[in-house]
Amino acid sequence: MTLILGIESSCDETAAAVVTGDGRVLAHRLAGQESEHRPFGGVVPEIAARAHVEVLAPLVGAALADAGIALADVDAVAATAGPGLIGGVMVGLVTSKALAMAADKPLIAVNHLEGHALSVRLHDRSLDFPYLLLLVSGGHCQLLRVDGVGRYRRLATTIDDAAGEAFDKTAKLLGLGFPGGPAVERAAAGGDPRAVPLPRPLVGTADPHFSFAGLKSAVARAAQSGDFGTADIAASFQQAVVDCLVDRTRRALDASDGVTALVVAGGVAANGAIREALERLATDHALPFVAPPLWLCTDNAAMIAWAGAERLAAGMLDDLDVPARARWPL
Ligand code: KG4
Ligand code: ZN
Repeated sequence: MTLILGIESSCDETAAAVVTGDGRVLAHRLAGQESEHRPFGGVVPEIAARAHVEVLAPLVGAALADAGIALADVDAVAATAGPGLIGGVMVGLVTSKALAMAADKPLIAVNHLEGHALSVRLHDRSLDFPYLLLLVSGGHCQLLRVDGVGRYRRLATTIDDAAGEAFDKTAKLLGLGFPGGPAVERAAAGGDPRAVPLPRPLVGTADPHFSFAGLKSAVARAAQSGDFGTADIAASFQQAVVDCLVDRTRRALDASDGVTALVVAGGVAANGAIREALERLATDHALPFVAPPLWLCTDNAAMIAWAGAERLAAGMLDDLDVPARARWPL
């Protein structure tokens, strides 16, 4: 049985995991850095890189111990090679190169977005290509047609902010703290989604892309006006994001032939209102809706190890001189 060690360090989670070639997660360890970034209201790249350096090696040791294996037992080391905060990506990639060299095993450089895109197949091994993926995270908001391992077609992206970024900025504006997504969702639960009139940028247009900057500015104006309560603003904002995501995804579904499922991935996919609305949309299109469990939606190393397993099975290996990339479109 194939064993893949995966390492993730592209943002503010340091993670190591071991998965098998047939999709069993033998270990998955995560060290968050929220408390270190919280005083600054967002992720500070330099602090993130240093924190990755401190915890990564012991975390890898712990993951191997959880899986009951030694480094020599792994068949490949898979690492996030980008896109992300370059200091953190370098920490994870250089560590992975050293481990691969020490174990004399191949290195697999994984695009973080590919990790999210394939994570759903770790959750549901029966899911077949092609599927339509809505990838919504702190750094990305994209619709991708996934035709196979290494075969991704980007149908839409954001022209300004990512959906998670909009949640994080809204949380900051409303004084709800960091990280913003879960805080806004909690506040929204006690509010009226129709209380505050907010724009739905690009909704109903032939343009396939996403836009959230105008929504963020409108939230700022609503908060400053003093006319609305925090819960109502949070609920109205969340509803506006739901409407934008659903409209853009519906447009992509209407234009996509032969997809087997609608899949959502990325940290924002943890949002209950978003999941419910997408599920209804999939049902309207007579498609199954597949969302990985929450721990697999937010950043983790199991999805990187799994993308590594899929690439290994397809013979897609990398040389040890593969570079770390801050930007790396799928
Ligand atoms: O995929 P992820 O863990 O990291 C990136 O690759 O960006 O996504 C993190 C993003 C953050 O912007 C966070 O606020 C958002 O996902 N998020 C949520 C929720 N949980 C996390 N957004 C809305 N509702 C949530 N429950
Ligand atoms: Zn991510």
